[in-house]
Amino acid sequence: MMTSIEETKTVEIETGMNQDFDDLIIEIKDLWRKFFEDTPAEVEALKGVNFKVNRGEFITIMGPSGSGKSTLLTILGCMAPSTSGQVFIDGTEITQMPQRKLSELRKNKIGFVFQDIFLIDKISALDNVLLPLLPYGIKKADRERAIELLRIAGLEDRMHHKPAELSGGQKQRVAICRALINDPPIVLADEPTGNLDSQTGGEVLELLRKV
Ligand SMILES: Nc1ncnc2c1ncn2[C@@H]1O[C@H](COP(=O)(O)OP(=O)(O)OP(=O)(O)O)[C@@H](O)[C@H]1O
Ligand SMILES: [Mg+2]
Repeated sequence: MMTSIEETKTVEIETGMNQDFDDLIIEIKDLWRKFFEDTPAEVEALKGVNFKVNRGEFITIMGPSGSGKSTLLTILGCMAPSTSGQVFIDGTEITQMPQRKLSELRKNKIGFVFQDIFLIDKISALDNVLLPLLPYGIKKADRERAIELLRIAGLEDRMHHKPAELSGGQKQRVAICRALINDPPIVLADEPTGNLDSQTGGEVLELLRKV
C-alpha cells in the first residue's frame, strides 16, 4: 500500500501491512520543521506530516533530495527538535521532553542506521556492534547476542575484521547489527542502501526485513 503525506506532496510512505489493527509504536500528528524560521532564508522542511506505524510494521519513506526524509528521521530518533506538532513513540509524546529523558528513550526504544555508516576504524566489527552498550558495561550475554546478530547478517567469518577490511555492504550490515544490539522496538535507517549497488542494497534490505 502506498500513501502520500498529503500536505508535503513530496514525501511518500510505503507501509508493509494494512492498518486494520491498532498497536501503534509511532504516531506523528501535524509535524512541522522550519529552519531559520521568520527570516528570508526560512526553509519548511516538514509541512504538517501525519502518519502512524504499527508494531512490527516495515515502512519506507521516499521523496526527492531535500524533501525532508533525514529531518523526519532525526526527529523520530530523538536527535533533533521539531517546530510544532506531536510525535508519540510507544505512546509517549516526545516533542516537549527534557534532554535527559530523550536520551533514555533513545537508548531503550530506538536503533539508528546512519546514511554514512559511522563505524570506528580501529576496532573490530564485533566491537563496533557492542559500542552502544559500552557506557553500561558489556556482559557475556551482550557479546553472545552481538555474535548471533553478526551470524544472521552473514558476517560470522568477518566479525574480528576491522571496517577497512570489509566491503561497503558488509559495513552497512555491521551498522544494522549495531542498531539492533539494544533490541529496540524501532529501527530507523536513513538511506541504508544509498551507497550500495542494487544487489548489495537488496541484501541489506533483506537483512532489515528479517530482523
Ligand atoms: N540544519 C539545517 N539547517 C538549515 N536547513 C536545513 C538543515 N537540515 C536540513 N535543511 C533543509 O531542510 C530540507 C530537508 O532536508 P533533508 O536533509 O531532510 O532532506 P532529505 O529528504 O533527507 O534529502 P536527501 O535525499 O538529499 O538526503 C532541505 O531543504 C535542507 O536544505
Ligand atoms: Mg537525507
